[in-house]
Parts: sequence; structure tokens; C-alpha cells
Amino acid sequence: MTQVYTNKSLKSVISITLMTAALGLTACSSPTDTDVKTRQDSMKSWGDAMGVMGDMVKAPDTFDAAVFKEQAAFLAEDSSTPWSHFENQDAAGNATEAVWSNADGFSAESDNFQKVTAELSAAAQTATSVDDVAPAFSEVGASCKSCHTEFRAKAN
Ligand code: HEC
Repeated sequence: MTQVYTNKSLKSVISITLMTAALGLTACSSPTDTDVKTRQDSMKSWGDAMGVMGDMVKAPDTFDAAVFKEQAAFLAEDSSTPWSHFENQDAAGNATEAVWSNADGFSAESDNFQKVTAELSAAAQTATSVDDVAPAFSEVGASCKSCHTEFRAKAN
């Protein structure tokens, strides 16, 4: 019996070592994967921020000026992060080919996004109710949507 257990634990030591090696390989990803991950992480966090603000816009009596201001400021600050991670076409991720074939259009969308998020953040600084931020908030939502229409691959 003891012998069996020894064999078993030796096996698990080996499999843990193999697992660690596999994880090590995954962690050491190529620069292209890093680009895709960086921009997707950024977009995901924008989705979260939009969710927090959108809930307040839908239920105006839950408006919390400090929280809204924080989320809007985050969006404005992060609004320039993803774009330099779209340089390599091999790192397509869920971006459409138009990101590269219509680079001017893509950069116009990203410029507009930076503009409307700055406006939202500015409006949020002095906002006392949803009314003060709702128009700028919908401009930001429209910007996400407009860019995704041409430049983000449709989810299957
Ligand atoms: C200038 C274009 C552009 C703008 C503006 C933009 N996106 Fe995106 N978004 C993309 C592209 C392109 C992708 C696909 C990226 C990829 O897979 O590499 C994407 C992907 C995403 C994803 C999926 C991320 C993932 O994990 O795969 C989310 C969520 C997202 N965007 C949310 C937003 C939100 C919310 C906004 C507005 C606050 C926004 N995006 C504004 C172009 C844009």
C-alpha cells in the first residue's frame, strides 16, 4: 500500500512540474498577443465604466456625482490607450480588416472618442444631476457603437 502511495505522489509531482512548464509558456506570450490583450482589457474596462454610468442614467434618482465623475474621468484618461496597440495587422483579434484598410476612418473614430470622453468628464466635474451629463453620455455611447459598426468583428 505504502508503495502505491509513493508512486502516486511521485506522479503528481511530475504532473505539477509539467503544468508549471505549460503555464510558463503561456505567460511568455508574443508581442502581438500582448497588443490584443492590452486593447481588449482597455475596452472591457470601458464597458464596465459605461455600465456604472448607464445604470445611473437609466435611474436618475440613483445619481452619485462622485462615482459618475470618477468613471467619466477614468474613461477620458484611458481613451488614448488602445490605439497604439493596433499597429500590427497580424494581431487582428476581433478587429475587422478595415482597421488597416481604412486607417484614416479608424483614427477619426478614435479621435472623436477621445473628444467626447473629455467632454463627458468635463460635464461630470460640476454635475449635480443626470440631466447635466446625459447628453454627453449618449455621445460617448454613440461613439463606441459607431466605431464597432465598422471596425469590430461581429460576435458569432
Ligand atoms: C475607435 C474605435 C472604437 C471605439 C471608439 C470603441 N471601440 Fe470597443 N472595440 C473596437 C475594436 C476594433 C474592438 C476589437 C478589438 C480586438 O479584439 O482586438 C473592440 C472591442 C471591444 C470590446 C470587446 C473586448 C474583448 O474582450 O474582446 C468591448 C467590451 C468594447 N470594445 C467596448 C467598448 C466601449 C464600451 C466603448 C465606448 C466607451 C468602445 N468599445 C469604443 C473599437 C472601438
